[in-house]
Amino acid sequence: MMAVEDVSLGELRRRTSAKWRTHPPDVLPLPVAEMDFPLAAPVAEALHAAIGRSDLGYASPNSGLAEALAGFAARRWSWQLDPAQVTLAPEVGVAVVEVLRLLVRPGDQVVINPPVYDSFFPWLAEVGCQLAEVPLAQTADGWALDLEAMESAFRDGALVHLLCSPHNPTGTVHRRHDLERLAALAARYGVVVLADEIHAPLVLPGRTHHPFVSVSPEAARHGIVFTSASKAWNLAGLKCAAIVAADPATRRLVQRLPAELPWRVGHLGVLGSIAAFQEGEGWLEEVLGVLDHHRHYLAELLTARIPAIRYRPPEASYLAWLDCTALGLGDDPSAVFLARGRVALSSGPSFGRPGIGHARLNLGTSRQILAAAVDRMANAIDGAPTSEPTGVRRTRR
Ligand SMILES: Cc1ncc(COP(=O)(O)O)c(C=O)c1O
Repeated sequence: MMAVEDVSLGELRRRTSAKWRTHPPDVLPLPVAEMDFPLAAPVAEALHAAIGRSDLGYASPNSGLAEALAGFAARRWSWQLDPAQVTLAPEVGVAVVEVLRLLVRPGDQVVINPPVYDSFFPWLAEVGCQLAEVPLAQTADGWALDLEAMESAFRDGALVHLLCSPHNPTGTVHRRHDLERLAALAARYGVVVLADEIHAPLVLPGRTHHPFVSVSPEAARHGIVFTSASKAWNLAGLKCAAIVAADPATRRLVQRLPAELPWRVGHLGVLGSIAAFQEGEGWLEEVLGVLDHHRHYLAELLTARIPAIRYRPPEASYLAWLDCTALGLGDDPSAVFLARGRVALSSGPSFGRPGIGHARLNLGTSRQILAAAVDRMANAIDGAPTSEPTGVRRTRR
């Protein structure tokens, strides 16, 4: 297994980001979508080099990030995006909110597909739009967009669909034919599809990511893609994301975004993202191998320790969506795991109503921490005491 996996809990506890500082040190933290692996070497080198040059001013409009993203998109997804279609933003959240401000007025309807990334709720609240919730459908093949229900929501007047592709928290990679049908519906009803594709570089073996605007001419006309290197290379704190508008009409819309937006992008984020997209694929491949292993290892751990949890390994990214309803731990099992097991997962209900009785676990860590987390969850259910992962000294409370 790769070196990235060797990071110890002692080292991780020296980190100061939200994941590591939200809970007291006796809690094993597995919420927040960032991975525990050390930075990709090319990214670390680019950041060190910038600091060495005292190069911490504003991000340049001619940084080369759009070209780096285009190269990555062509190699990974055969997506021929023109760098002229790219606009930078500080993060996907700010980008989606600013684009929504141009598309909807308070009270207008925006479709989302719960259980879905919990920040979608406050983003939409920031704009004042109304939620039209169309839950994902559960099929024999996993979760999928419920396209009939989507059509009803579009027919009932929704103006925008905020698509999560791949889908957080279920790890679903939307199938090409579903995206094509979605695009056809968007065209029929005049809906704009905002495709949050931040997890796309993390699609795991067995599935293929289809950038929304690349699936059909209608999708190109009616979609806007939001992406970033931040999830795949753990650069969330550097504040850099990209908006891709593939059609003249969506480009005209994006040109109406606040002129200050690119000035709010982090310069280190731009430099780190260029390094990630241009030179970070070797590291990414290693990480995908680890995550592929971990998604199945978690299934083994749960079968051995907590077989009542229902879990379908994700098709993308490092988030495991756990159906804990059979455990009878109430609406929010993460509260019980935290209080009794001292292990922090993300709260299921924060992802919307279908998240009741669920919790989300972050697989982007070491094998030892994963095993310790399941141990703590099992102890929370049995009432047994918790312990730190083997070989790691317990941090003083
Ligand atoms: C689907 C999705 N979109 C966006 C974000 C956040 O991105 P940003 O920090 O660029 O706003 C996350 C973070 O976990 C996410 O899972």
